[in-house]
Formats: sequence, structure tokens, C-alpha cells
Amino acid sequence: MLQLENRINNAFDYIRSLTDAKPVMGIVLGSGLGDFCDRLKNTTVVPFDSIPDFPVATVDSHRGEFVFGTHCNKSIVALSGRLHYYEGYSQQEITMPVRIMKKLGVSTLLLTNAAGGINLTYSTGALMLISDHLNFSGSNPLIGQNLSEYGLRFPDMSDIYSKSLREELKAKARKEGIMLEEGVYAMYSGPSFETPAEIRFFRSAGADAVGMSTAPEAIIANHCGIKVIGVSCITNMAAGVLDRKLSHTEVTETAARVRETFIRVVELAISLAQ
Ligand code: HPA
Repeated sequence: MLQLENRINNAFDYIRSLTDAKPVMGIVLGSGLGDFCDRLKNTTVVPFDSIPDFPVATVDSHRGEFVFGTHCNKSIVALSGRLHYYEGYSQQEITMPVRIMKKLGVSTLLLTNAAGGINLTYSTGALMLISDHLNFSGSNPLIGQNLSEYGLRFPDMSDIYSKSLREELKAKARKEGIMLEEGVYAMYSGPSFETPAEIRFFRSAGADAVGMSTAPEAIIANHCGIKVIGVSCITNMAAGVLDRKLSHTEVTETAARVRETFIRVVELAISLAQ
């Protein structure tokens, strides 16, 4: 297998041979948001499985493609179908798209996801701006040789989810009557949902929501100087909060229910990118 650096460079060269787009913003679309891409104009689609040495998405609800396009005349690249750690890829592999985005010119990254609500004041269907994360995944995407063209060996992580972008997004959402929660996202590896005991532990550690993605992409973006905005859709209350079982069906049903508002928040976030 080629070294990570070569795989990223080969994927980038291949994508560049198909489009000369210079996206200012990257968007990772979480569960249920895939068809946001229908709102983009002048699209070029690059499926993961057409890219040499690139991991393929294996989750049914995730298509697995880069979608280049414009939104209100702004050039963006969306990842429809992210790669997850629980699919068996390393965190270095699942974050390859973020480094490719950096090489394409992206300076702001919007990470969206579905998450379970840990904070007992949240309700299902709420949208939460991520203020920080707890990485309980058991790994870190920067393990291994440091790729110094992207960033430092020991990068600072004190403002991963840009405070200034959060303030701007909150103000824009408020003006439209969209209520955003703000809290700490805990990443768990999955693919099993957490146990009630794990959720109590995460709550005591300061987590407001839990999910199986986002932290690796945010770490890699921060490492290479990309500003990050994170938004979680609270699709269900986390394990043990309510007296019922968790299911992926509930996750996709809630995501579908709040889709329009979530998409509006994505559009407001795009308007912040420069
Ligand atoms: N736990 C982990 N990931 C999730 C959840 C959850 O409760 N809901 C949606 N993604």
C-alpha cells in the first residue's frame, strides 16, 4: 500500500484532472443531508470509487462522492457520504478528504453529523453548534509520521471549532428565528451505540452530544489551518436517557424531519466563508 502522503497526492492529482474548481469551503454532509447537493449549481461529481487508492464508503445512507459546485456564486466542495472509523479504515484514511480539500484551496470546513443527545435539556430534532469535542474514539488521525507540509507535530487545539464563526452563525440563525444549542460533542468509535453507563460517564466528563464521526476531520482541519464549524442534529436521546432502544431508523427519521432547517443552517454557514 502506498504511503498516506502519496495516496493524498494521487487522489488530488486525479481530482484536479477533472475540475479546476477552487472551492473556498468544504462541507461534510452527515446522515440525511446528502441531497443538499441538489441545491448546488454547475456541479462536478467525483465518486470515491473512481479515485485511485481511495477508501470507499460502505454505509448505505452515505453515497461517497466529492460534489463540486456553486452556492450563491460561492465555490464549494461537499462530501456526500463521509468515511467513518467504524468502517475499518484508519483515522488517517478517513480524513484524507480534508487534506485533499486543503490542497484544493478550502479555508473553512463545515462538519455536520447526526448525534445522540446527552444534555438532558436537549430534545430530539434540536441542532447543536459544536463548541469543542471529547475524543473518546481511541485513536487520533495525526498518529504516525507528521506531514509537515500540512502542520506541526504537536498542534494547538484550543479553538478547533472557531469561536468567531460560531458567534457569526448564531447571530445569523437568530435573525431567522432558528434556535441553535451549543455544546461539546463526544466521539465514540461505534458502530454499536454506547451503553447507558458510557453515556453517564460522557455526561460527567462534560459532553452534551455523542456521535461516531467529526472529531478526526476537525483535528486534521485544525492541523492544516482550516477553520471549522461543526453542527450536530440531535436525532435521538442517547442510550439510557429514555426508556427505549436506539436504532439507526430513528436517526434517519429525525434527520429527515429537520432537514429543511438543517439545510438553512448549512446555507447560513456557507455565507460566512470567504
Ligand atoms: N450515539 C452515537 N452516534 C449517534 C447517535 C447516538 O446516540 N445518534 C446518532 N448518531
